[in-house]
Amino acid sequence: MCGIVGYVGGRPCRDLLIAGLEKLEYRGYDSAGLSLLEDGRIDSVRAVGNLSNLRAAVAERRDEGAVAVAETDATIGLAHTRWATHGRVTEENAHPHSDEEGDVHIVLNGIVENHSELRRELIAEGHEFSSETDAEIVAHLIERHYEGELTDAVRAAYAELRGHYAFVAMHVEHPGTLVGARHECPLVIGVGDGETFLASAIPAFLRETRTVMQIENGEIVTIGPDSVDVTTAAGEHRDRDIEEVTWDEDEAERGGYPTFMMKEIHEQPDAVAETITDRLPEVDEVDLSELELSAEQVAGIRRIVIVACGTSYHAGLVGRYAIETWARIPVEMDVASEYRYRDPVVGSDDLVIGITQSGETADTLAAMRLARERGAHVLAITNVMGSQATRDADSVLFTRAGLEIGVAATKTFTSQVAAIYLLGLWLAQSRGHIARDRVAELIAELKALPRKIGETIEATDQHVRAIARSHYDGRFFLYLGRHIGLPVCLEGALKMKEISYIPSDAYAAGEMKHGPIALLDETTPVVCVATESPVLEKVLSNMAEVRARGADVIAIGTQGSELEIGDSADQALFVPETDWILQPILAVIPLQLLAYYTARLLELNVDQPRNLAKTVTVE
Ligand code: AGP
Repeated sequence: MCGIVGYVGGRPCRDLLIAGLEKLEYRGYDSAGLSLLEDGRIDSVRAVGNLSNLRAAVAERRDEGAVAVAETDATIGLAHTRWATHGRVTEENAHPHSDEEGDVHIVLNGIVENHSELRRELIAEGHEFSSETDAEIVAHLIERHYEGELTDAVRAAYAELRGHYAFVAMHVEHPGTLVGARHECPLVIGVGDGETFLASAIPAFLRETRTVMQIENGEIVTIGPDSVDVTTAAGEHRDRDIEEVTWDEDEAERGGYPTFMMKEIHEQPDAVAETITDRLPEVDEVDLSELELSAEQVAGIRRIVIVACGTSYHAGLVGRYAIETWARIPVEMDVASEYRYRDPVVGSDDLVIGITQSGETADTLAAMRLARERGAHVLAITNVMGSQATRDADSVLFTRAGLEIGVAATKTFTSQVAAIYLLGLWLAQSRGHIARDRVAELIAELKALPRKIGETIEATDQHVRAIARSHYDGRFFLYLGRHIGLPVCLEGALKMKEISYIPSDAYAAGEMKHGPIALLDETTPVVCVATESPVLEKVLSNMAEVRARGADVIAIGTQGSELEIGDSADQALFVPETDWILQPILAVIPLQLLAYYTARLLELNVDQPRNLAKTVTVE
């Protein structure tokens, strides 16, 4: 999730653009850059790392004598902070990108799914690429279609792209015009006095103007200092209302949400979509060629070991069901802080998967290194390019959730689960363990998940809020589940513990009668994950067991099972139907919300809970 800003107006804009980037750094920052157009030439500066490196690079260029950026009064420009998804963290891969002549410059947020085939086409036409990114494609496509009108060239390029993206383009022959396009990813217009901004989020220009215009999906916008022209992909003109933003700057950074955690809960549809979409180019085949695992290596995997901590460990537990059910490879799970000290038996025919959103968790890294030293092939599932985990692994599968600021992991959990579903299906297909039409069925279900996650948030939000109101002063929460529902319970209990500080426990429902049932009385809220699964009947009888002790059952079920769940629970929430193995990615949403609203009712800081750090780099 990158940050993009564009400006055209009457003021020198270099520092305006960099200030805009500072307000977008929460979107991710492994590199940054800007391009400025003045006196018929465009000059660019890019730097790896955060904005202080970009500022230093601008100063450096002063020394090298290139005046445009250092001394410029340019009043039109583009800028970008990057959260790498395609192409390593290098200066060449930083934005803005341009065509060979440097006449067209673009900044892009999102993913161009069909970048490989377009790149092949353009290279065949003689285009030369200077980066590994999917985004650079757009600059060459605009150059390909350019016949004097920038908007027309952008529209033609837009028609060839597939994916989730928003971009802004600048052309050396148009010193008073920027053209932007939006497809799924956010892009908004800031209207000033004799100046206009384009940005991926309002904070980028909120200090300069509070007057905004929204750009709808599939629209193209042409801006000048005093003009905004919104058109469709087909070229029809669209009128657009002006809105005044009342947010304060902090609120703006949270996208208008009260906290980063709530913002990140709502970003889950996009995070999952970006994590899966370009790995599902075909209707019946998963493409994980990025793992660079040969067919022999895949066929030779005798066992899989998943090591992780906290929420990442829970994602691994869900993944175990997918891998064992689809690929029939035995999966062993271990918390990394235990695995690294138990002298594990591991070797060359094992695939060891380290799951870590930050890519910096010391215990997980140590467990990965130990397995690698003992000959295992190590795969990291991580959200951060350039993180240590990417260096301690032989293969890397990136989730694409964007930067997660809330300490309590939400969108990185659902993205990890989505990534491990892809891995399970790819291993099954690569080892010929699953029929092509079954793969097609599951791919269709996977592609529907972003929409269903959005529906789940909408459908359960207010109901969960009401449930939290009746239980937030509870002294203990118990979560019960079976089979693939148990990891969801573990994750729900962890969220409740880490942000509401209420003692909470998750237990295999079948184990209740072997002890924990003694904990129950009429004051105990018991959250039961009873979504569609091969053991739903069993879960229903455990719910009856709990109710018989007077406890309050809050059930999470699958739409369509209202009758049997409704009779067995005091409160019931339902998530959309999907394949039982995919249910956890939906069932966890109401549990995230329950912990969230409970903590809010207790007036606790959900973004930065006590005693917790986002990344645990200590042993
Ligand atoms: C989850 O909400 C917590 N922040 C914590 O348990 C976290 O999942 C754990 O520290 C692992 O972090 P990682 O995914 O960055 O390795």
